[in-house]
Amino acid sequence: MSDEKAKLIIGDKTYEFAILEGTVGPSVIDIRSLYSQTGLFTYDPGFTSTAACDSSITYIDGDRGQLLYRGYSIDQLAEQSSYLEVCFLLLYGELPSAAQKKDFEERITRHTMLHEQMHYLYRGFRRDAHPMAIVCGVVGAMAAFYHDSTDITDPEQRELASIRMIGKMPTIAAMAYKYSIGQPFVYPRNDLSYAGNFLNMCFAVPAESYEVNPIIERAMDRIFTLHADHEQNASTSTVRLSGSSDANPFACIAAGVACLWGPAHGGANEAALNMLRAIGTPDRIPEFVARAKDKNDPFRLMGFGHRVYKSYDPRAQVMQKTAREVLDLLGVENNPTLQVARELEKIALEDEYFVTRKLYPNVDFYSGIILDAIGFPTSMFTAIFALSRTVGWIAQWKEMIGDPQKKIGRPRQLYEGVERREYIPLAKR
Ligand code: SDX
Repeated sequence: MSDEKAKLIIGDKTYEFAILEGTVGPSVIDIRSLYSQTGLFTYDPGFTSTAACDSSITYIDGDRGQLLYRGYSIDQLAEQSSYLEVCFLLLYGELPSAAQKKDFEERITRHTMLHEQMHYLYRGFRRDAHPMAIVCGVVGAMAAFYHDSTDITDPEQRELASIRMIGKMPTIAAMAYKYSIGQPFVYPRNDLSYAGNFLNMCFAVPAESYEVNPIIERAMDRIFTLHADHEQNASTSTVRLSGSSDANPFACIAAGVACLWGPAHGGANEAALNMLRAIGTPDRIPEFVARAKDKNDPFRLMGFGHRVYKSYDPRAQVMQKTAREVLDLLGVENNPTLQVARELEKIALEDEYFVTRKLYPNVDFYSGIILDAIGFPTSMFTAIFALSRTVGWIAQWKEMIGDPQKKIGRPRQLYEGVERREYIPLAKR
């Protein structure tokens, strides 16, 4: 806590509030007693200036374009670590030893199969259902199948639910994809890596063998790592708010999936690739940039801008490098979509509108190009984001549930409706 106090003067009264300091980043004014002292609420729709919790998991410096998972920078983790190692780091706070890593990977691998009865759940959906609609439904339904890991007061059940969620999410997402294209489900294989198993479940068919391309496997694993966690973003805040009512972990993660689906959030990767395809050729970029700047046009450059990053999203930088590598290694020369993306980025970053608003490409701008090159339809992009972010949601949920100061989240409002009035019987209306 800082020695300095925050002073609020209202009328002839001065109120003092403690200033709490973190290890790095902005300090916070502790206003928990504001309403009881002043009878006033703060007002911050969109939470642009509000810290909803304290956390030790992920730190973002939006001005310096820095993202740290438990203190390790995202570029080092993307380059040198692996997704399951990052999962261990996010969940338990430290990089695993060799023995811990082996044990954790085995525990996750042993929980990749879904209850066989859940296959019938998929059959209830239309074949053309959006994969996110299926993933959201199936994740929520896990509470109907895994009763021995829904008691949030039992640390062992919380741990089992965490491992199950991380282990089964690739299977759930892959099955949603297979169902949407009318192909048979492919069971998980314990001899494959986490990313390799996901690729196999998506692209293998009974009619012939499928070889996991190690370059694509590495790119997939890196995409998982880049999306793993991101502080108190909209979907993570949704998971925390859901968890604050002691709802079971599967219901909380399903809520996170639902929130992530929005095009302003995780749905932006699908929208960004659709936008790049709609632009089609570099000569049409000015038309779309003009629309993005036109206040009367709801169109925005998808994959651009961020609430926190007011400089380059470090994930976008790694993603751009990975896109180049994957396309080169796949022999995809002069990918028109990548050409449009790079030209659009160049034009936007020189345009006064984007410069003054500090709008840079975010994690969603390049990811779709890689996923498209690997062979995924755009409808699967956000499901892959959800798969990757499951560990972040789980880690943040566990941190909140384990916090002795946990309280149910219950924001207030500025009421602007009509005041009390008497009921008017129908005969008199
Ligand atoms: C993710 O929070 C996270 O961490 C999220 C995420 C994660 O890992 O969890 O990083 C993942 O969601 C990335 C963001 C993906 N969304 C998009 O790419 C959609 C396009 N971007 C925008 O919708 C927007 O930039 C947001 C939603 C991302 C951020 O919006 P803010 O912070 O609320 O900013 P704003 O809407 O108040 O915009 C500020 C100004 C406005 O102009 P003015 O009113 O000041 O004149 O910038 C403009 C906006 O109109 N603006 C854009 C723009 N983004 C903001 N103009 C054109 N194109 C854009 N993309």
